[in-house]
Amino acid sequence: MYTGLLHSHSYLAYLVLLGLLISFGNALAGLFGNKPFSDKDRKLSLLGLIPAHLQWVIGLILYFVSPRGASLASGAAMKDSVSRLYFLEHPLTMVIAVVLITIGYSRAKRLQIDSKRFKSIAIFYGLALVLILIRIPWISWPGN
Ligand code: HEM
Repeated sequence: MYTGLLHSHSYLAYLVLLGLLISFGNALAGLFGNKPFSDKDRKLSLLGLIPAHLQWVIGLILYFVSPRGASLASGAAMKDSVSRLYFLEHPLTMVIAVVLITIGYSRAKRLQIDSKRFKSIAIFYGLALVLILIRIPWISWPGN
């Protein structure tokens, strides 16, 4: 079960990054091109939302079955930067990123002014993308 989850989490990470990049790029193009926010734009923003939500669920289960997740948590592990990244920094930062993506998507759905809808996706997805990129465990991904 652990190996399957780890592989899923590892491969889905590509989709999360790709989906976010597409949604973010489309939002910037819409914002700076003064375009109307169409249903196509809403669907493109789902490309950033859906893989991130799936990844969150898999990550949460992985956290409790992985030897590098909750089982690692201890005062001593806090002093080790690699252990701290796996059991604390990565999960916490990713949860914040997924919350930001969800807020960006919901605001864009609710707002009435097209430029504000694009801006919501651009800002919240952009911030989430930065957070994800700085706390991916690059020491083990992609592959080694
Ligand atoms: C957008 C969200 C996320 C992305 C893009 C992401 C990405 C990754 C990547 C690329 C790895 C390295 C996989 C490998 O070594 O092959 C990883 C490992 C890990 N992730 Fe995530 N993750 C996300 C969310 C989460 C969440 C929410 C949790 C827990 C609550 C979590 C827990 C873990 C754990 C425990 C590992 C280490 C697994 C192991 O090596 O045994 N992740 N993550």
